[in-house]
Amino acid sequence: MESENKTGKYFLALALIMLILGLVFGVLAATNYIHPGYSKSWLNFSQLRPIHVSCIVFFILIGASGCVYSGLNFIAPNKIKKPISFIQLGLWLIAIFLILFAYLNSEFGGREYWEFPPKYSIIIAAAWLLFLINFIRVVIKIKKWPVYIWMWMTGIFFFLLTFSENYLWEFPYFREHFVKDMTIQWKVNGSLVGSWNQLVYGTAMFLMEKLTENKKGAKSNLAFRMYFLGLANLMFNWGHHIYTLPTENYIRYVSYIVSMTEWIFLARIIYMFRQTLNEAEKLSHHFPYRFLFASEIWVFLNLMLSLIMSIPAFNLYTHGTQITVAHAMGTTIGINSMILFGACFEFLRRNNSSILKPSKILNFFFWMTQISLFVFWITLIIIGINRGLWQMGPQTDSFSTMMANQSSLFEIFVIAGILLMIAMIAIAVALLNTFFRDTFLKAKVN
Ligand code: HEM
Repeated sequence: MESENKTGKYFLALALIMLILGLVFGVLAATNYIHPGYSKSWLNFSQLRPIHVSCIVFFILIGASGCVYSGLNFIAPNKIKKPISFIQLGLWLIAIFLILFAYLNSEFGGREYWEFPPKYSIIIAAAWLLFLINFIRVVIKIKKWPVYIWMWMTGIFFFLLTFSENYLWEFPYFREHFVKDMTIQWKVNGSLVGSWNQLVYGTAMFLMEKLTENKKGAKSNLAFRMYFLGLANLMFNWGHHIYTLPTENYIRYVSYIVSMTEWIFLARIIYMFRQTLNEAEKLSHHFPYRFLFASEIWVFLNLMLSLIMSIPAFNLYTHGTQITVAHAMGTTIGINSMILFGACFEFLRRNNSSILKPSKILNFFFWMTQISLFVFWITLIIIGINRGLWQMGPQTDSFSTMMANQSSLFEIFVIAGILLMIAMIAIAVALLNTFFRDTFLKAKVN
C-alpha cells in the first residue's frame, strides 16, 4: 500500500499556488499590449513581466520537485528524510517572499528569467542542494535504476551546476568580455531549461510506467538512448541562441547538428503517438493520461517551431520577436505544465483512492485549456512573423506603426490569455481543493 508520506504533496500544492499567481500576473502584464501603461500607477510592465516569469519558473521547479518526491515515495516508501525536505520547502517560501517583495519595490539586479537581486539566489541554491542530498540518500539504495531515476538525477545535478554558472557574470573576468558573457548567459538559459525538462520528462516516464503498469519501457535500450540524446541537447543545443553573436563557427555547427538530432525525438514522438492512441482510447477517462497525451501533441507542435527557429537563416528573422515568446510559452505551458497537471492528478490523491473523479466540468476546463492555448500560441507566432518581416525589411513604417497595425491580433492574444488563465486556475483550484480536504479536513474518500 502506498505510504502516507506527504512531502511531495506539499511541494505540489505550493507549485499550484505559484501557477495561479503566475497566470494572474501574466494577464495583468499582457493587458499592457492593448492598453499601454494602464497599470503604471500601481505596477508597470517591467515589474509585472518578471513577477509573471518568476512565479511560472518557480511553479515548474517546485512542481517538478514535488513530482520527484512523490515518485520516490512510491518507489521507496517513507525513505525521504522529512526534516530535510521541510527545510527545503521553508527556504523556497522565504526566497519567494523576498523575491516578490523586491519586484514590488522595483528592486532588480538579475538577468533574464532571474531578474531579482542576485543575493536571493543563494537561498534557492541552498534549497536545491538539500534536494540533491535528500534525493541521493534515497536512490543510492535502489539497484538498477530505471531511466526516470537517471533523468531526475541529471536534472537535479545539472540545475545546481548551471544555476551557479548563471551567476558567473558577477565576476568582472566574465562580465567585462561582452561575447564571452553573452555566450555563457545563453548557454546557461538553454541548459537550465534542459535541466528542468529532465525532471519533468522523467516524471512523464514514471507516470507512463505507473499508468500502463509496464515496467519494461523505462529500462529499455530505447529509453536510455532517448535519455542520452536529451542529455546531449541539455549540454549543447543552446548554440541556436547565439547565432547572432560573433563567436566561433564550430559552436554554431555543433549546436546546429545537435538541434537537428531532435528530429529523432520527433520520429519517436510520432511513433509513440500512434502507439498511445490505442491506450488513450482505453484510458481516455483518466486525467493523468489525458494530460500526458496533450503534452505529446504540444511537444510535436513546439518541436516543429523550434526546428525552424534553429535554422540560421530563419533565426535572423525570429530573433527577438514574439516567436521566441511563443516558443518559451508554448513549451512551458504546453509541455511542462501539462505533464505537471497530469502528475498532480495522480499524486494529489489519497493512497490509491480517486478523489478527483473525472467530471463534466473538469473535462470542459481541460478542453478550454487546450483550445485557448492553441489560439494564444498561433496568435503570438503571427505577430512575431509580422515583426520579423518588418525588422528585416526596408522599415518604411515606424516600430510603433507596425505594432499598432497589429492591435487586433494583440486583442485576440489577450482574450485567449484570459480564457487560458480561467481554465488553468479552475483545474489548479480543483487540485488544491483535493489537497486541502485530504490534508487538513481529513475528508472521507471513496
Ligand atoms: C502556465 C502558463 C504560462 C506559462 C508557463 C508562461 C510562461 C512564460 C515565459 C517562460 C515567458 C518568458 C518568455 C520569453 O522570455 O521569451 C512568459 C512571458 C510572458 N507571458 Fe507567459 N506564461 C503563461 C501564461 C501566460 C498568460 C495566461 C498570459 C496572459 C496573456 C501570459 C503573458 C505573458 C507576457 C505578456 C509575457 C511577456 C512577453 C514579452 O516580453 O513581451 N502568460 N510567459
